[in-house]
Amino acid sequence: MRKILLTLLLLAAPVAALAADGVPLMKAHVDVTDIPSLQRGAKLFVNYCAGCHSAKYMRFNRIAADLQLPEDLVEQYLIFTGAKIGDTMTTVMSPQDAERWFGVAPPDLSLTARRRGADWVYTYLNSFYRDDSRPVGVNNLIFPDVGMPHVLWELQGMPMPVYGENSGPEGGLRVVGVRVPENGGRLSEREYREATRDLTNFLVYMSEPIKAYRQSLGVKVLVFLLVLLVLTVLLKREYWKDVH
Ligand code: HEC
Repeated sequence: MRKILLTLLLLAAPVAALAADGVPLMKAHVDVTDIPSLQRGAKLFVNYCAGCHSAKYMRFNRIAADLQLPEDLVEQYLIFTGAKIGDTMTTVMSPQDAERWFGVAPPDLSLTARRRGADWVYTYLNSFYRDDSRPVGVNNLIFPDVGMPHVLWELQGMPMPVYGENSGPEGGLRVVGVRVPENGGRLSEREYREATRDLTNFLVYMSEPIKAYRQSLGVKVLVFLLVLLVLTVLLKREYWKDVH
């Protein structure tokens, strides 16, 4: 039994930390109770992602409530498609067009963070690099031959591939990392990481909107049980005081 458990552990450990081709995942450190981060993430999402990706399980008024934004602000700053505040986040791009342009239709992003994990999404957004042999001009370290363009390149700059020596098959070259050119984008390297962390945070929130509420509820329940325990102990003492 112990042997089986050990084998399972050994098998599971590297899988959790490594993505395709053994590239280590970066740590996203997201926090769905960080409302300002979620607000920034939502803004980035509607500006840079929603043109191609839908989030069909998410409603704008739900975002307004959870992210503590007035509905008229959401209508003004987060809705560009003429959608109503009670609508889900659909995209205007038709799947047929998308397939023609990118070879594959952009998937719905409602549940992506839950399926892939926050670290994967964060690493993905930080792993694009220039590759002129690809139709969209870029590739991705953890998503080889990706069909998505590097839509945030204006912010980040266009990262260049870093080759590892004798890392590929038959000792050839293989991309092992990316290097961001200095002052290549509108954001500094740190700011870009912050921005992609906010974006990842928003995707994590979308994939389980109830999570922050559940966590805070859990804490309240624990505090309540603790208080109850103290009261019960005191009550017990009171009852037994006169029994000798
Ligand atoms: C120009 C259209 C376009 C835009 C804009 C776009 N994407 Fe994509 N995205 C795609 C396509 C196409 C794919 C599918 C890639 C593939 O399968 O090769 C994809 C795939 C993804 C995936 C991988 C999903 C999975 O599990 O396989 C993630 C995550 C993602 N996009 C996030 C984003 C985020 C975040 C933004 C906004 C910053 C964004 N995308 C903007 C076209 C787009």
